Amino acid sequence: MIGAAGKTGRAVTRALAARGVDVRAAVRSAGAEDRAHRAGAGSVAVVDLETGAGLGAAVDGVDAVYHLAPNVHPDEVGIARRVATAAAGAGVARFAFHSVLHPDDASMPHHVRKGRAEAVVRELHPEALVLRPAAYHQNLLDAARAGRIAVPYSLDTPFTNVDLDDVAEVAALLLTEPVWRTGTFELAGPERLTVRQLADVAARTLGHPVVAERVALDAWRAGPGAALAASARADLEAMFAAYDRDGLVGDPTPLGRLLPHAPRTWSAALTAG
Ligand SMILES: NC(=O)c1ccc[n+]([C@@H]2O[C@H](COP(=O)([O-])OP(=O)(O)OC[C@H]3O[C@@H](n4cnc5c(N)ncnc54)[C@H](OP(=O)(O)O)[C@@H]3O)[C@@H](O)[C@H]2O)c1
Repeated sequence: MIGAAGKTGRAVTRALAARGVDVRAAVRSAGAEDRAHRAGAGSVAVVDLETGAGLGAAVDGVDAVYHLAPNVHPDEVGIARRVATAAAGAGVARFAFHSVLHPDDASMPHHVRKGRAEAVVRELHPEALVLRPAAYHQNLLDAARAGRIAVPYSLDTPFTNVDLDDVAEVAALLLTEPVWRTGTFELAGPERLTVRQLADVAARTLGHPVVAERVALDAWRAGPGAALAASARADLEAMFAAYDRDGLVGDPTPLGRLLPHAPRTWSAALTAG
C-alpha cells in the first residue's frame, strides 16, 4: 500500500486487514509507522515517492500494489511512473491506482495529472485496476459536526460525495478477488446534494444547527490556503472554480453494483463512529 499512512491509505489498509490481508505499508518516514500499524498493516517500508528511494524493497515479493499519490502533488505523473516501474520490475501481478472522478476535466490541473498518471500506469500495467472516487463525505464531517460548513464556492451546485469506507471496501474486494478484474470504475455516492443541502441533512441528523457558508476566496487564501505550497493553492483554487460552476457529479451505478450493501449516505456517515 503506497501512501499508506494518509487518510485514504489507512482506510484501504483497514479494509484489507479486515479481510485477513497482510498489508505492507509504504510510508514517508519512520514517524508514520505507528499510524500504519494502528490501521492494521503487518509491516512497514519507508519510501520517498519523490526520488523512488525504498520503492524496490517496498514492492519486493508482494502480490499486489495499491498506489495512491499524495494529494495535489505537482509530480503526480513522475510518482506514478516510479511506483509502476518498481512494481513491474518486481513482477507484481496486480496493480491498482487510486485516481479521481473525471480525470479528463481540463479545468482542474490536478485531475489532468491524475489522467496522465492513469495513462502511465496502463502503459506499464495493461491489466491495471483504476478507481475514480468522487469527493469523500469525510472531507466535510468535522465541519458538519462543529456546526459550520464553510467553502469558497457555490452552496448550490451538486455533488455526489462518496463514503471513504465504501471506496476502501471496494478497493479491498477487487484487490482480493480470486480472478483479477481489470477495468476503470467511477465511485460516486448515491445522493446528489448541494453544500446547502448537506448542511440541512447534517442539522436534521445531528440534532443541532449546521450552517452552510460561502467564504470569500481571499479569506480562504489568508486562512487554510496560507499554509499550502503555491502549486497546491493554485490547484485547489482551480478546483473551487470548477465546483462553483459545476459541482462534482458522477454515476452512482458502479459503486452500488460493486458493494455487497447499499452505499453509505451522508446521514449514515455523520452517525458512524
Ligand atoms: N479527498 C478526496 O475527497 C479524494 C477523492 C478522490 C481521490 N482522492 C485522492 O486520494 C489520494 C490520497 O488522498 P489523501 O487525502 O488520503 O492524502 P493524504 O492523507 O495526504 O495521504 C498521502 C500520503 O502520502 C504520503 N506522502 C506524501 N509525500 C510523500 C513522499 N514524498 N514520499 C512518500 N510518501 C509521501 C503522506 O505522508 P505523511 O503522512 O508523512 O504526510 C501521506 O501519508 C490523493 O491522490 C487524492 O487526489 C482524494
